[in-house]
Amino acid sequence: MAVKRKLKIKKKNFAIFLICNFVVIFLIVFTIHFVIKGINSFTSNKKKKVPTVVVEKKKKDQTKDLNKDKNSEKLKLLGNINQKVDFFKMDYLDRYIEYKNNNKDLDNEQIILNVNMGIDQPYYTNTKETEYLNTTYLLVNKYHSLPSDYVPNNLQTINSKYSIGGMKLVDEARKAFENMAEDALKEKLHIIAMSSYRSYEYQVNLYNKYEKQDGKDAADTYSARAGFSEHQSGLCLDVYDGEIPYTSFEKTNEFNWMQKNAYKYGFILRFPKDKTNETGYKYESWHYRYVGEEIAKYIHDNNISFEEYYARFIEGKK
Ligand code: DAL
Ligand code: ZN
Repeated sequence: MAVKRKLKIKKKNFAIFLICNFVVIFLIVFTIHFVIKGINSFTSNKKKKVPTVVVEKKKKDQTKDLNKDKNSEKLKLLGNINQKVDFFKMDYLDRYIEYKNNNKDLDNEQIILNVNMGIDQPYYTNTKETEYLNTTYLLVNKYHSLPSDYVPNNLQTINSKYSIGGMKLVDEARKAFENMAEDALKEKLHIIAMSSYRSYEYQVNLYNKYEKQDGKDAADTYSARAGFSEHQSGLCLDVYDGEIPYTSFEKTNEFNWMQKNAYKYGFILRFPKDKTNETGYKYESWHYRYVGEEIAKYIHDNNISFEEYYARFIEGKK
C-alpha cells in the first residue's frame, strides 16, 4: 500500500514538474516573440523616418530638375538671349515668354527690353517708387513714381533772361540750361523755360483740370498723374521761343537748333515721336530732360528713349 502511495506521489510531482516546465517554456517563447516584435517595429519605424526625408529630397530634386528643364526650354525659345545680354532678368522669364507669344514680330533683345521697361503690362500697373532720388539719371514714368512729399535737393531759380517768372530746376540742370540758352541766344534764338519744377500738389490740380476737360483716357496721353510727373524731379522743363504757343515749338528754328545741340548740354527730347509706346506719352517737342552729357550723348547717338537707356544700363546693370 505504502509503495503504491509513494508511486502516486512521484507521478503527481512529475506532472507538476512537467506543467511548470511547460509554463516556463511558454513564458520564454512568449517573451522572445514580443521582444523580437518590439525590435522589429522599432527598426521599421526608424526605417520609415529616413525614407520620408529622402523621398522629400528626391521629390524636390525632381521638381528642380523639371523646372530646370522647363526653364531651359523657355530660354531656348528666347534664343538663349540670357547668354548674350546682361540686362536679362531670370525673374521675368515667364513674362518674356508671354510677351513673345503676343509679339512674334519682335526680336528677342527687344522682347527683353520691353518687358524690362514694363510695357508688357498696362500703364500705371506694377508701379513702384523710383530709385536714385536726387541723381540726374532717376526715372519717372507711368511705372516709376516719386514720393508725394519729394522735393529735389538744391532747386534754383532759372535766370529770368531765359524763363518766365521764377521757374526752378535742380542746380546742375539749371546751369546747363542757362549755358544752352545763352549759346542759342548768340545765334539769335530764344529758348525760354515756361514750366520746369512742379510740386506734387501743382500736378494734382493740373492733371485734374485736364481730366475734367478731356476725360481720363485722353488726359493720360499727355499729362502725368501726380507722383508720376518728371516735372516733380526738377530735372526737366517745357520751352518755347517766347512767341508762338509751346505746342508749336516743333515749327521753330529754336527746335531745330535743340535737335542738333541739346545733348551737348546734357538734355534729351524726352517724349519723341517714335517712342510713344515706351514713354507712355504723345510726342512733345517742347519737353526736355536733363540727364547729364554722357547719357544724353548716348541717347542722341543711338536714337533710343530714356526708358530703354534705363532698362539697359541702370536697372539692367543691377
Ligand atoms: N506732360 C508731361 C508728361 C507731364 O505731365 O509730366
Ligand atoms: Zn513737360
